[in-house]
Amino acid sequence: MESPFKEEILKGKVALLTGGGSGIGFEISKQFGKHGASVAIMGRRKQVLDSAVATLRSFSIPAVGFEGDVRKQEDAKRVVELTVKHFGRLDILVNAAAGNFLVASEDLSPNGFRTVMDIDSVGTFTMCHEALEYLKRGGPGRSSSSGGTILNISATLHYTAAWYQIHVSAAKAAVDAITRNLALEWGTDYDIRVNGIAPGPIGDTAGMSKLAPEEINSKAKDSMPLYKLGEKWDIAMAALYLVSDAGKYINGTTIPVDGGLWLSRPRH
Ligand code: HXC
Repeated sequence: MESPFKEEILKGKVALLTGGGSGIGFEISKQFGKHGASVAIMGRRKQVLDSAVATLRSFSIPAVGFEGDVRKQEDAKRVVELTVKHFGRLDILVNAAAGNFLVASEDLSPNGFRTVMDIDSVGTFTMCHEALEYLKRGGPGRSSSSGGTILNISATLHYTAAWYQIHVSAAKAAVDAITRNLALEWGTDYDIRVNGIAPGPIGDTAGMSKLAPEEINSKAKDSMPLYKLGEKWDIAMAALYLVSDAGKYINGTTIPVDGGLWLSRPRH
């Protein structure tokens, strides 16, 4: 689908996306690039990165991939520094890296719980922590009046409760808290806007194929009044809105992009 946004809304901006090589993260990378941004993507799998970078470049998007694990502070630091070295500055950080699997709470080991917290929550904070120096107003390559922006990819699981997703629900609740607290502190002190997107079920993603819910593909769907599968494009358009000047007065908010699904209850 064509983007409703002008092609140059991110002209001159540099974005770093964790998990930017696949799924929702890749679509955001692509749309940012198509709207004028230079794009650095970070991920653990070299092959995935290489193929994502090749695809981005095929759209004439200035793109580079850096291997790294958000669980390692030294990786986060290195990748942020390499991004700035490569493109000269950093304007947008997107935390899209996430880990997930379905497991009943009683079968989940504390280490399994910790692993997802480490990737989603601690990883998000670590990336923000390492990027701060470059995102703050007056940071390298930016004016003394404007800071950069951070976008955290969350979920809607923790708005209520979700079967077999205690680890992800807890991790994304923490992500939302990080979004609000950094928005308060860094928005005030450094003019950095920090927002989130909470995607609903999005087609053609690892999340959907891993998690999804046979129930979503079958009967229970009939009892979900607002059920509609989203597209990666829907998340990328919300991301463009939030990180561009269109979203300049939005700070500390996580926008659900799920067609209203989280509101739904079985029909009586
Ligand atoms: C139970 C599991 C498990 C499973 C791992 N563990 N998989 N427990 N069921 N299916 C436990 C292990 O037993 C271990 O605990 C601990 O987790 C760490 O496992 P490792 O395999 O060593 O971890 P690692 O290799 O680092 O892999 C991380 C991962 C993996 C999270 C387990 O799946 C991953 O990296 N996935 C990333 C890709 C991904 O899933 N992306 C889609 C995100 S979608 P013990 O105690 O045995 O040592 C998304 C959507 C959210 O986030 C919202 C949905 C609506």
